[in-house]
Amino acid sequence: MGTPLKTGAPVSLTIDGFAVTVPEGTSVMRAAAEMGLRIPKLCASDNIEAFGSCRLCVVEIEGRRGTPASCTTPVAEGMVVHTQSSRVKKIRRGVMELYVSDHPLDCLTCSANGDCELQDMAGMVGLRDVRYAAGENHYARTSGTLAQGDRRARAPEGEANPRYIPKDDSNPYFTYDPSKCIVCSRCVRACEEVQGTFALTIEGRGFESRVSAGAAGDDFLTSDCVSCGACVQACPTATLQEKSVAELGTPDRSVITTCAYCGVGCSFKAE
Ligand code: FES
Repeated sequence: MGTPLKTGAPVSLTIDGFAVTVPEGTSVMRAAAEMGLRIPKLCASDNIEAFGSCRLCVVEIEGRRGTPASCTTPVAEGMVVHTQSSRVKKIRRGVMELYVSDHPLDCLTCSANGDCELQDMAGMVGLRDVRYAAGENHYARTSGTLAQGDRRARAPEGEANPRYIPKDDSNPYFTYDPSKCIVCSRCVRACEEVQGTFALTIEGRGFESRVSAGAAGDDFLTSDCVSCGACVQACPTATLQEKSVAELGTPDRSVITTCAYCGVGCSFKAE
């Protein structure tokens, strides 16, 4: 639930009408989780620092303007938080609509079907309609030539597509499919914070932004990636996925072992 629970002085607040006391420095999202309240999220996860980029976890706080991200907002004494107001629900649906508009609509045949946080969150926020030509935008990321109606590319149909980035199959253990990337940067932060490798970065801006494994032209195999799998575990979609899962489907059982060799805490999943 974003940043781990802190160990500071106790702070009391109210979330959705329920009183809770948590250590100073705890995020609102974490405090809500301690009460069993689940706030939608995409860029936050338990083992990396909160980043506040996806804006799906917005909440309302009485006496404060705007709708801050609950994953990066620390609790304060007497704070009154609303996580389910009609305003934040509408904002979350709008955010999800934008994400889905730039994502492939192949859920039924996607290897992450049933194990995809984007899919889960779309259901959780109640997204039922996408107004932004989702299929055309999806095509813009997955095809080498432009589709009719790809308004952002501003080039005639059939021309080379500047947004197209081919799938990277170079790593023997996992694949990287940029068409499914929501640029939450969880993989980049896991590479830095969990593994300490700094092999990944985000390059480009806006619609052109993408996860990159090092210098231009590098693929995962020739980059500084050490194949630890931290990025794959952090990915909320099928962008970074184990080849065994892509080929054989999601296993119904797995055992996660944490390496005791050093203090990094790398985890290994056996299926
Ligand atoms: Fe808080 Fe993404 S989960 S901004």
